[in-house]
Amino acid sequence: MKISFAAQRPTGSYTLAIPLWSEDMLADRLSGLGDGARALAAGAAQAQRFEREAASVAELFVEDNGGARRLLLVGLGGSRSDDALFEKVGGALTARLLASGETRLVVDLSGLGIDAAAAARLAYGASARAWRYDVYRTKLPRKQKPTLEEVVIVGAGEGVEAAWERMSALLAGVEFTRELVTEPANIIFPVSFVERCRSRLEPLGVEFEVLEEEQMRALGMLALLGVGQGSQQPSRLLVMRWNGGAASAKPVVFVGKGITFDTGGISIKPAAGMEAMKWDMGGAGAVAGAMLAIAGRKAKANVVGICALAENMPDGTAQRPGDVVTSMSGQTIEVINTDAEGRLVLCDAITWAQRNIRPDVLVDLATLTGAMIISLGHEYAGLFSNDDGLAAQLQAAGQATGDRLWRMPVGENYDKLIDSPIADIKNVGPREGGSITAATFLQRFVEPGVKWAHLDVAGTVWSDKAGHLHDKGATGYGVALLDRLIADNFER
Ligand code: BES
Ligand code: MN
Ligand code: ZN
Repeated sequence: MKISFAAQRPTGSYTLAIPLWSEDMLADRLSGLGDGARALAAGAAQAQRFEREAASVAELFVEDNGGARRLLLVGLGGSRSDDALFEKVGGALTARLLASGETRLVVDLSGLGIDAAAAARLAYGASARAWRYDVYRTKLPRKQKPTLEEVVIVGAGEGVEAAWERMSALLAGVEFTRELVTEPANIIFPVSFVERCRSRLEPLGVEFEVLEEEQMRALGMLALLGVGQGSQQPSRLLVMRWNGGAASAKPVVFVGKGITFDTGGISIKPAAGMEAMKWDMGGAGAVAGAMLAIAGRKAKANVVGICALAENMPDGTAQRPGDVVTSMSGQTIEVINTDAEGRLVLCDAITWAQRNIRPDVLVDLATLTGAMIISLGHEYAGLFSNDDGLAAQLQAAGQATGDRLWRMPVGENYDKLIDSPIADIKNVGPREGGSITAATFLQRFVEPGVKWAHLDVAGTVWSDKAGHLHDKGATGYGVALLDRLIADNFER
């Protein structure tokens, strides 16, 4: 989507959108139109029961300069407390117009009394909601093809270009994550995931380090390697470094679960719905997108993004239930269920990060458990942490961006549920509290002094229905959250 800013409404053909607070006088906001058009708009609003609820839209055509102009009235509601209001408004407008036949939208903010940041967020919402991935659709009917190409925002005020430049880096990150998550598993597997990231992130100055299987074997990362051992696709550990901060500042580490396809392995999943497991790399996808956003806006912080990449397949060479593997930490793990593979790749990635980066703060993201969806549905991701300060920073970032988090417990009483009779730890606990024992498993690999948070994003990286900022499909969850965590807490 092409975004531009202007002081006045342009000439020519376009759809005009007029946002309205609940207390605004309609006639004032429509002052650029004639009397007839204003009366029509008032009648049409009433006929459509348009009551200016946040991001609600009424649509009509009016006579303007001798032609017909599509006019959208868009509600802002009455409360000024929703940080993400203008993103939702932008999203509602493009959702309405994307395949409407219209090519250009003009949103007139003059007289609304909003700042440049809100205008940039409107542009962000409009662009984010318009994203789609049609590369495999060779027969899309003409009427379903997107037509909207450009959004012009009028009256945004000073500094909007700078605010937009910053937000467009975030947009690029979210779009990249959605692309990775949407791609099927025959296209995105560990090696191609690395190469797709490299092509997008290296040009921005992100440093790449890639561990291949022999290197991981030499380091003793046998928990991670065990997961990929039944696959034709070799596993990888991808490390991306952004050095935008002071040389002395310890990096913040993000670790993502990157199972490019999860069949369950020998503990194979049922056939119905298994295609969803192409997005079992959503945590790694969010880490990659966040690195793109952070590097794209040249954040003044040191951040390392690590993706633990493997494909979980059943095979004659696959690991079996009951196998015991030794992790890089030295702890032995009894693999009770090969479908609890996310924690196995993450524990070695977390150990590698602690040994090699020595961070104070480590946040992992993973589509770790189906139980998370049972607990929180699709509205919040689960947050597990050993540090109240870090948990509060993450929840604040979630509130500000709309990538919301709900805190869940971890600790002692859950920990004994994953003791193994043969090894140090087993990879599953009882059915009850499945997301919590999964998090507790990871916690056993967190070294003293490290502030750690685990985000179980199983319910939020993919959506079966459209939302304010996304169509159905990949949401890009986590990118805005991590970008904001850095911006608000770790930049010099
Ligand atoms: N990737 C899945 C979790 C998942 C399920 C994410 C559905 C999104 C939607 C994970 O690897 C898994 O299979 N977890 C098991 C753990 C169980 C065997 C303890 C689960 O949740 O059933
Ligand atoms: Mn699994
Ligand atoms: Zn999985």
